[in-house]
Amino acid sequence: MSFILTLANLLSIAAAASGWLKLSDGPWSAREGLMAVEDASGIVMVGGRANLGLAAQHDVWRTPNGSSWERLPDAPFAGRAYHAMLSHGACIFVMGGQTVALLGDPFFNDVWRSCDGGETWDSLGHAPWQPRAGLAVATHNGRMVVAGGCFGSSIGAGRKFLNDVWATRDGASWELLTANASWSARSGPRLVDFNGRLLLLAGEVGFTADTQLGDIWESGDGATWTLLTATPAFSARSGHGVVNAGGSLLLIAGWHDAKCLHDQWLSEDGVVWRMVSNATWACTADACGRFDFWPVATSSGLLLTLGGSNAYSTFGKLWAETWALPLLGGGRPLRGGSVAMH
Ligand SMILES: *[C@@H]1O[C@H](CO)[C@@H](O)[C@H](O)[C@H]1NC(C)=O
Ligand SMILES: *[C@@H]1O[C@H](CO)[C@@H](O)[C@H](O)[C@H]1NC(C)=O
Ligand SMILES: *[C@@H]1O[C@H](CO)[C@@H](O)[C@H](O)[C@H]1NC(C)=O
Repeated sequence: MSFILTLANLLSIAAAASGWLKLSDGPWSAREGLMAVEDASGIVMVGGRANLGLAAQHDVWRTPNGSSWERLPDAPFAGRAYHAMLSHGACIFVMGGQTVALLGDPFFNDVWRSCDGGETWDSLGHAPWQPRAGLAVATHNGRMVVAGGCFGSSIGAGRKFLNDVWATRDGASWELLTANASWSARSGPRLVDFNGRLLLLAGEVGFTADTQLGDIWESGDGATWTLLTATPAFSARSGHGVVNAGGSLLLIAGWHDAKCLHDQWLSEDGVVWRMVSNATWACTADACGRFDFWPVATSSGLLLTLGGSNAYSTFGKLWAETWALPLLGGGRPLRGGSVAMH
């Protein structure tokens, strides 16, 4: 695998107590709601949005190591943020999301595929689901699964939240797994394949402190869901990061009660969570906490985070930074991980 900055390199440079290392600041513009995945060519990032007044992006960037970014041709699809992006088979898929539009419907359900590391994209048409943003996605049993999200005006009661779940093998042919999952309709939950089961974590039903969620649900098939916990040890939140980190679940930061978080929580089962750090990004104050960044757990044993926002308004601080944390080492070993050294 081509991810060049190895754990050994990083540990030798990152002596910092928090274990986090800032790898780059740009060259892409500061943004939130961006998405990124790892594939055979490196880490590929697509989209996101800047502050109000600037359109959502359709720029595509790739890095072999988180430090040095290459700009690829802009994607042929409309600029978007809070979309879904997956590495599945030998290809990268982008679907759904929203643009910044004062007129017209800013929500998407189009599906795009790149099988050359984000350099060229094919249209796979439109999915049969309601156009939406804040949809959660994961690969599970050879399929891509899409869950929840939202659409409609962000003013008043105009925003509608969803709890349907869909699956596809190829991005073109879709199966409805459930029109109404047991978890309440929501936007921005995170979905992760964990020990062969799908876990759906937290999210939101609005844009205020009292509309943030913390509940965690589990499913073997995406259709039938079981509540794992209504009250995890971490606070209700949205805009968080969740990765499967070598056999443990790691949940990072997000937005809660008008605060931008910088905590990290670890779980072996999705039920019992323990805080392993409150210094994500070497940050120990609300002013440097963030949400709507995107995390990627790389095959070489690093957690990368890209971008993010610090203010729950459209005029707040946005980042263009890439940070890394070794998932093993730094004094907080994660259990059961295996790290490929290259
Ligand atoms: C990252 O990759 C680029 C391109 O291959 C290379 O020039 C640069 O030295 C690498 N940086 C690190 C820190 O490995
Ligand atoms: C979804 O299921 C809940 C119970 O789990 C029920 O109260 C609600 O009416 C259902 N909604 C739709 C649209 O079927
Ligand atoms: C993390 O630090 C913040 C200060 O920014 C503090 O308010 C919060 O209570 C801490 N979180 C936990 C879970 O201890």
